[in-house]
Amino acid sequence: MEIDLRGRDFLGLLDYSELEIRYLLDLAKYFKQLKKSKSPHRFLVNKNIVTIFEKDSTRTRCSFDVAAFDLGMGVTYLGPTGSQIGKKETIADTARVLCRMYEGIEYRGFSQELVEELAKYSSVPVWNGLTDKFHPTQMLADFLTMEENFGHLKGLELVFVGDIRNNSGNSLMVMSAKMGVNFTACGPKELWPDEDLLKTCREIAQKNGSTITVTDNLLEATKDKDAIYADVWLSMGDPPEEWEARINLLKSYQITKDILDNAKDSVIFLHALPSFHNQGTTIAQDIQKKFGISEMEVTDEVFESSHSKVFDEAENRMHTIKAVIYATIRD
Ligand code: CP
Ligand code: NVA
Repeated sequence: MEIDLRGRDFLGLLDYSELEIRYLLDLAKYFKQLKKSKSPHRFLVNKNIVTIFEKDSTRTRCSFDVAAFDLGMGVTYLGPTGSQIGKKETIADTARVLCRMYEGIEYRGFSQELVEELAKYSSVPVWNGLTDKFHPTQMLADFLTMEENFGHLKGLELVFVGDIRNNSGNSLMVMSAKMGVNFTACGPKELWPDEDLLKTCREIAQKNGSTITVTDNLLEATKDKDAIYADVWLSMGDPPEEWEARINLLKSYQITKDILDNAKDSVIFLHALPSFHNQGTTIAQDIQKKFGISEMEVTDEVFESSHSKVFDEAENRMHTIKAVIYATIRD
């Protein structure tokens, strides 16, 4: 069956089939080969995109920029300040203006409803660059990285540890269900995923021959796993006053060398980044001063180990985002 994603939004992955996701992963591999062999691929000249970031970003912003430049396109960046969005102009009006000028719109912001509103009023594709609920472009990079390491996805054992109801946790659960990966979400009960989303994902997983497990037992969850995934304990947009409570909830869920040793010998460590694995940032130093911990979701030893594939994963953001842009706005 020929896959045609032209004109489609990319908002949360629930509306994408396994075949459509497979198509995007294969297209990303093709673009990666072109990039590595320095073969020009300016397939979308005379098209332009706009990227809206209401939250900070390094990887996602740079990935959209480089992907667009490589495809021969123009890019406009709208940051948290400097545009009319949300202050003097509604999302609906913004969408109806931007789609008169651009072939695609990326949006990173707070609620999932906002990116869905943007898509509703835009006549060109809208791509979710992260909301509080989902981070779908990240998933393509994560699963491409797993496939590069293991040669396949179906039947792999993936565990996500930490704030398992955050955007990464939700999206990993959706993507695993769609791609037949056995997914375990491990964290304290206070942070367990939304029941409705869990039920939906379990139904999808069952059709695809995989399982979704939720547990608070770290040793059981990480036993014999192929991939261990961690994320920050407090996400962008979460109130900083919650650090203390979150640290208390999650400090026993840190990914250490012992946890890595509990998984398969071939285990890989994944993280969307940025990560608090050392004292190299102002926030990490502040946390150290206030709460006396020098590493958070992952130890520096694990982060820097040969099991860690986090920089391959970061690179894959660009190749996979290029695939999404191309597939949805090509002629
Ligand atoms: N992983 C990720 O989305 O990184 P940025 O916040 O730097 O875009
Ligand atoms: N959960 C993190 C993901 C960052 C890529 C956040 O939203 O801050």
